[in-house]
Amino acid sequence: MASRITIVGCGYVGLTTGACFSSLGHEVTCTDVDADRVELLNRGEVPILEAGLDNLLREGINGGRLKFELGSIEAASQSEFVYLCVPTPQGLDGSADLSYIEAAANEIGPHLQPETIVVNKSTVPVGSTRVVEQALGRSDVYVVSNPEFLREGSAVHDFLHPDRIVIGADDQSAAVRVASLYLGVAAPLIVTDPPSAELIKYASNAFLATKVSFVNAVAAVCEAVGADMNDVVLGMGYDKRIGHEFLRPGPGWGGSCFPKDSRALIRIAEDAGYDFDLLEGVVGVNEEQFDRVAAKAIELVGGSIDGKLVAVWGLTFKARTDDLRDSPSLEIVRRLKERGARISAFDPSVSMPLSPRAASVLEGIDIAVDPYAACIDAEVLVVLTEWDEFKWLDFDKVASVLAQPRVVDGRNILDRESLRLRGFDYRGIGRT
Ligand code: UDX
Repeated sequence: MASRITIVGCGYVGLTTGACFSSLGHEVTCTDVDADRVELLNRGEVPILEAGLDNLLREGINGGRLKFELGSIEAASQSEFVYLCVPTPQGLDGSADLSYIEAAANEIGPHLQPETIVVNKSTVPVGSTRVVEQALGRSDVYVVSNPEFLREGSAVHDFLHPDRIVIGADDQSAAVRVASLYLGVAAPLIVTDPPSAELIKYASNAFLATKVSFVNAVAAVCEAVGADMNDVVLGMGYDKRIGHEFLRPGPGWGGSCFPKDSRALIRIAEDAGYDFDLLEGVVGVNEEQFDRVAAKAIELVGGSIDGKLVAVWGLTFKARTDDLRDSPSLEIVRRLKERGARISAFDPSVSMPLSPRAASVLEGIDIAVDPYAACIDAEVLVVLTEWDEFKWLDFDKVASVLAQPRVVDGRNILDRESLRLRGFDYRGIGRT
């Protein structure tokens, strides 16, 4: 049965959730406090790069099942479900900042119909369901946790074909009502209490971050003993208990979730009296990885990068997204700049003129029009995001425009042997 749903927050999570629920037949109103964003969305424009999202939004709008509004009070007061999809950024002490969630709950609380279900979709610390209950100030509505496990770039696919749906509710009937929204989505359903649902989200992200840090640490050992990390992960991945996913060595993990969620889990554990040393180590290995990749470029150019031009391919935190938030690439670029390097970069999703948000994080980086232009007169090329198109470029041309044919393959995506045949000095991650 179709339900009326309000989504509070039109970011990656809110837009994907809204568009996907409308494609499942529900009547959805997505709300935001940003008037420009709402206007853009009402014109049918999508402010983020997310495969399939534009089509779903258009279908929803044309079918009359999806609309966008400034402010959430009116829509929330007429809905059976209100999904909170506002940011939970990292606070100064590493804990998640709940002020957006609390403000949203405060605002809608007095206007909700009795029996409305308010759902936390944002990643919120254990115990936040209670915080929302308090902020709503109502005893006749339900608060349920329904964490998202959406990967940027494949968020729509992940929403409609999830590995699992997790619902944390104290009230079984509220859990059943939330589960009914997903009718048509085939996935295992885990119904539990709110703290367990909240922890499932953090533990999953922290585990994946651990997997990548583990692989990057083994890559460091590979370099020291002359092993090839690409073969090592292949051999590990065939063990079904390990699996091939999240075993790619790289420049470190980043993005809008892993860094803040790992730190938040460390903090949650600390507050609960547990010292999560293991996760501290995982974060530490990741920071070291940024240093290690920067050091590879510096070593390749002879020990000092001061005043030298470095070509960078890839600025986003992973391929098939335009998201620059907490990108390992930018961490590495910052380290190179601190040592005096000049940076000329190319990324398929970054073009001039830069958006104000991109301009603020890319300050001091020259943005090239194509990957070859980024390499002109550069002393070394550093590949930091795994965009497929980088694999199939004309590397004779790349070699001819670089000042020296040197490459740090920060994602192990290039063909090492063919590059060496073309005269490149090549360094990968965990393979020399
Ligand atoms: C992640 C989770 O996958 C998702 O379930 C959660 O809801 C939000 O956080 P996302 O941030 O989109 O999704 O990125 P993801 O694809 O998981 O990658 C995270 C980081 O790890 C990226 O920087 C990526 O490049 C890196 N990574 C991933 C590796 O370096 N190696 C790998 O094998 C996998």
